[in-house]
Amino acid sequence: MALNNVNILVAVTGGIAAYKCPEVIRRLTEYGASIQVVMTESAREFVKPLVFQAVSGNAVHVDLLDDQAEAGMGHIELARWADVVLIVPATANTLARMACGVADDLLSTICLATRSPVIVAPAMNSVMWEHPATQANLKTLQSRGIILLAPEAGSQACGETGIGRLMEPEKIVESLKQMACDGGQLTMKHVAQSTDSSLLKGVKVLLTAGPTREAIDPVRFISNHSSGKMGFALARAATDAGAEVTLIAGPVKLETPGGVKRIDVSSALQMHEIALSIAGECDIFISVAAVADYRVDEIKAQKIKKTGDDMTLTLIRNPDILADVASMETKPFCVGFAAETENLDAYARGKLQKKNLDMIVGNLVGVQSSGFNSDTNAVDVFWGSSGHVAYSSRSKESLATDLITLIASRYGERH
Ligand code: C5P
Repeated sequence: MALNNVNILVAVTGGIAAYKCPEVIRRLTEYGASIQVVMTESAREFVKPLVFQAVSGNAVHVDLLDDQAEAGMGHIELARWADVVLIVPATANTLARMACGVADDLLSTICLATRSPVIVAPAMNSVMWEHPATQANLKTLQSRGIILLAPEAGSQACGETGIGRLMEPEKIVESLKQMACDGGQLTMKHVAQSTDSSLLKGVKVLLTAGPTREAIDPVRFISNHSSGKMGFALARAATDAGAEVTLIAGPVKLETPGGVKRIDVSSALQMHEIALSIAGECDIFISVAAVADYRVDEIKAQKIKKTGDDMTLTLIRNPDILADVASMETKPFCVGFAAETENLDAYARGKLQKKNLDMIVGNLVGVQSSGFNSDTNAVDVFWGSSGHVAYSSRSKESLATDLITLIASRYGERH
């Protein structure tokens, strides 16, 4: 079953949509998940804990100081037990408390104590949902890697019509099912997420993606394994966030995301020329391309013939596109990628400084479910002298949404 051996900590907070949560739990258990339930004080005003005890098969947790728990620290035990924390429904109050890092009840403390993915399914009155405070809290939470199961539009319990209805229970369960179990660790695959379409409204974003090809002669070239998937996913996420996106793509077999202006290039020199000619008019430059560091000094006009047992090619350095953009007089907000096989933190931070970047996304390549050609990726993002967020393995689409949210929030602070 899709959720066999998956420990899901379901947290219920105090909104009318709490009545839909038992249905979510019932369906999750049908797919094999083990469920523990935490309820906030106000959730218990809407639905009795006994209902959740019956559907989950376990006593409901309500107190921060629990004399039944080993060492009296129920929040730590539950935080460690959970493979994923699912807050359904999540009220505006809960989102605000999480954004501030409040830890004065069982749920808020678990949210700080867990290393597992935290998913929120908000439900509230549409005016509360649209309030800038709620939207700002959501942005903060998403920038920390919290996953949003966005509320839907429709008629609400309060009599209004608008966005704020809890995502339908079966869709919530579908999202959870799409999380793959990878060696006991949950991997986020295609959890439904939405990007706020006003995050980068009117902002011009330039990206490079894919490999470059350095020709040796008319039939041969030097290249690398970059698939372009991460850069294309970021281009899509930036468009979804309202940006005007230009994507300079090396040779890849990927469809252009809707609304993106794509410019195809082959070599690092071509990518360099186009990027430098556009970057000055852009607000954000995201350099995802795996640009070849070297090219052959002289591309032969005719196919090189076999002669002796060995052959020597002289390679010369390619320009560093990202470093050149970052040293422009009116430079855009510059985000680099650092693919490393070891010492990720030190190497990525080194490049952040050396290339004068605003942010760097480091990822380990050559490991399973991360990096080149993989559909999933796990990254560590660094900025300034101590800024750091780690995103555990998830689909490149989902990661792109998280990264664009983080980039937008850092860019927003600068401007
Ligand atoms: O120094 P390194 O190649 O590891 O840095 C990686 C970052 O620099 C990536 O963001 C990549 O797109 C960019 N880069 C570039 N031009 C190069 C080499 C790397 O823009 N010639």
